[in-house]
Amino acid sequence: MTSEKIQRVGVIGAGMMGAGIAEVCARAHVDVLVYEQTRELAAAGRARILRSLDRGVSSGKITEREREQAAWRLRFTSDLGDFADRQLVVEAVVEDEKVKAEIFAELDKIVTDPNAVLASNTSSIPIMKLGIATTRPERVIGMHFFNPVPVLPLVELVTTLKTSPAVSQRAEAFASEVLGKQVVRSSDRAGFIANALLVPYLLSAIRMVESGFATKEDIDKAMVLGCAHPMGPLALTDLVGLDTVKSIADSMYGEFKEPLYSAPPLLLRMVEAGLVGKKSGAGFYEYADNGRAAKK
Ligand code: NAI
Repeated sequence: MTSEKIQRVGVIGAGMMGAGIAEVCARAHVDVLVYEQTRELAAAGRARILRSLDRGVSSGKITEREREQAAWRLRFTSDLGDFADRQLVVEAVVEDEKVKAEIFAELDKIVTDPNAVLASNTSSIPIMKLGIATTRPERVIGMHFFNPVPVLPLVELVTTLKTSPAVSQRAEAFASEVLGKQVVRSSDRAGFIANALLVPYLLSAIRMVESGFATKEDIDKAMVLGCAHPMGPLALTDLVGLDTVKSIADSMYGEFKEPLYSAPPLLLRMVEAGLVGKKSGAGFYEYADNGRAAKK
């Protein structure tokens, strides 16, 4: 039955996004199995989710009991073979086409339910490139969540030339009815809707810093106070991760060959230096305790 309610979700990767996706699924009463490459990374992922649930309790968004129940619904594994019974898998590993395609090829061999939905949270990689790594491209779809996942209400649904309408309906029903997210639909072009608009803007801000046109503080202040953005482009680049912004720019440049999508040298040098933003403790700004308190 294609319309069978999704109750067993698998999330691949417990980085910033995978942890957030796992958390919102667990909070929505879904059984969640999270894959990480090693037990150490899995433990770090679990701790990340528990910290976020704690913040949910202290800000009054969830009760103590809801936190306990969500924590109970989360299991971790470092064996992808454990995903055999999953009805929906959301892949959220590093923005690298080769790594993601290998994971989809593996999943294809592992997931037994022929009606399972295989989704990627990629920010920019055309979904067809992942679909063709499987023998069931009609079951493959983009489900692009936004950071932080428990806070931002949007999911971009990306269907390919092969995605079956039943898969798209099932993914949309899960995102909206189970997770309570708003859904927008995009065609399968690198960057989809939001990043096709956002990333050139972030890259322009980095070019402004690089050329000495204005300070990072003034660039961010201009957009916060002048355009009512909740944060400026350089703080947002730090939040997304400079490595991820570079990878998104690369895949959009690869698709469109537009200079506005090409990663500026300052971004490349900062990624090479490990200054990848909040998650590493430093990017355009410095952060104490891996991003919990920024000092500017
Ligand atoms: P992250 O750096 O926090 O986490 C990366 C994850 O990939 C970790 O779980 C890591 O263990 C895993 N990983 C790295 N190399 C791997 C490999 N060779 N094999 C298997 N797993 C590997 O990154 P983040 O931000 O969570 O991004 C994950 C995905 O979500 C990317 O596709 C990214 O484009 C997308 N995304 C990111 C957003 C953001 O604001 N950072 C927003 C929306 C989507």
